[in-house]
Amino acid sequence: MRVLDVLRKGLEDIAVKETSITYIDGKMGRLFYRGYSIFDLAELSSFEEVSFLLWKNKLPNIRELETFKKTMAEQREVPGQILEYLAKIDPSSNPMDVLRTTVSMMGTADRSDSDNFEKSIRLTSKIPTIITSFHRIRAGLSPVQPDSSLTHASNFLYMLTGQKPSEVEEKTMDVVLILHADHEMNASTFACLVIASTLSDIYSSVIGGISALKGPLHGAANSEALKMFLEIGSPDNVEEYVYKRLSRKERLMGFGHRIYKTYDPRALILRSYADKITSVKGNRNLYEIARKIEEIAVRSLGQKGIYPNVDFYSGLVFYSLGFSPEFFPTVFASSRVVGWTAQVMEYLNDNSS
Ligand code: ACO
Repeated sequence: MRVLDVLRKGLEDIAVKETSITYIDGKMGRLFYRGYSIFDLAELSSFEEVSFLLWKNKLPNIRELETFKKTMAEQREVPGQILEYLAKIDPSSNPMDVLRTTVSMMGTADRSDSDNFEKSIRLTSKIPTIITSFHRIRAGLSPVQPDSSLTHASNFLYMLTGQKPSEVEEKTMDVVLILHADHEMNASTFACLVIASTLSDIYSSVIGGISALKGPLHGAANSEALKMFLEIGSPDNVEEYVYKRLSRKERLMGFGHRIYKTYDPRALILRSYADKITSVKGNRNLYEIARKIEEIAVRSLGQKGIYPNVDFYSGLVFYSLGFSPEFFPTVFASSRVVGWTAQVMEYLNDNSS
């Protein structure tokens, strides 16, 4: 067989490993984590519970969940050398570069003989502290110490703004984290697995995942979608903008997906949270612009199987919660680290059996 007979650009249709972590039904627009529908998890679960589910392949009982939440909360503080580094570096540095470097510092400092599960908890608990500390330093503010009495989502927002979030802010943050936690085989997960396949350590795998997610084709379509809403400025300008763009064969950011040929279920869930959060945050105009784009574009592009993807509403939600657009990929990474590490652990277990 000639090499060209098996070559698939972009690794399309190339199987890398089997997984029981995530299942995507692209035709029906469904997503499952360990067999549980994303709709149910978003409504009834929490980010901590979903993390346990992805890592441990079962939902925790009440006692297990309480202990697990406590363990995660106790791991939020980062080594002093990381805070010193954040205070010293050029504040205009790309937040994904900063995250990559600080995860590398964490890996260098972690000489423990903890297993990959414990290291995954450490990574997931500390990454929000790194992101929010740098976010605040860039804005000329001091980092806020984590509060172990708060949930993961609530503490994340507390460290960002210095204020305890409202119920709607906390739930919105929790849901956005749940929705980004895993998505089968994508570029960043693949990068993590390539690194794990040489029996390198889990920090190195996560650094690979962050590096791949940094690319504009992977982790940044959400900020592009938000930029589009800001540029349009008013729902009255949407029609002209969308038709002009489509007639020039330009793509609408946050539309289309390699697997989903209908609505990405995460976009549907986020739409309802974008509706709620923009109502309380005073940027309802942006939500109305998004809804109008969706309505017009689905009419034109739906027949080609092009519908809103997760990025269409996630940028608007991150922005409404107080994150600057340059930080959107880091928030994505703070959740996807659960999927990356779960996939690495699944891969290593399978490899050694
Ligand atoms: N806006 C307008 N038209 C589109 C869009 C879009 N966003 N996406 C695809 N189309 C059109 C194409 O122009 C093409 O039209 P044609 O048949 O008339 O030439 C048709 O739909 C099929 O296009 P493909 O590129 O074959 O579609 P594919 O499913 O392979 O592309 C992709 C998926 C790359 C995500 C694409 O839809 C895109 O570029 N979207 C914009 C960027 C984006 O939102 N990325 C985030 C993806 S989700 C994630 O990574 C988490």
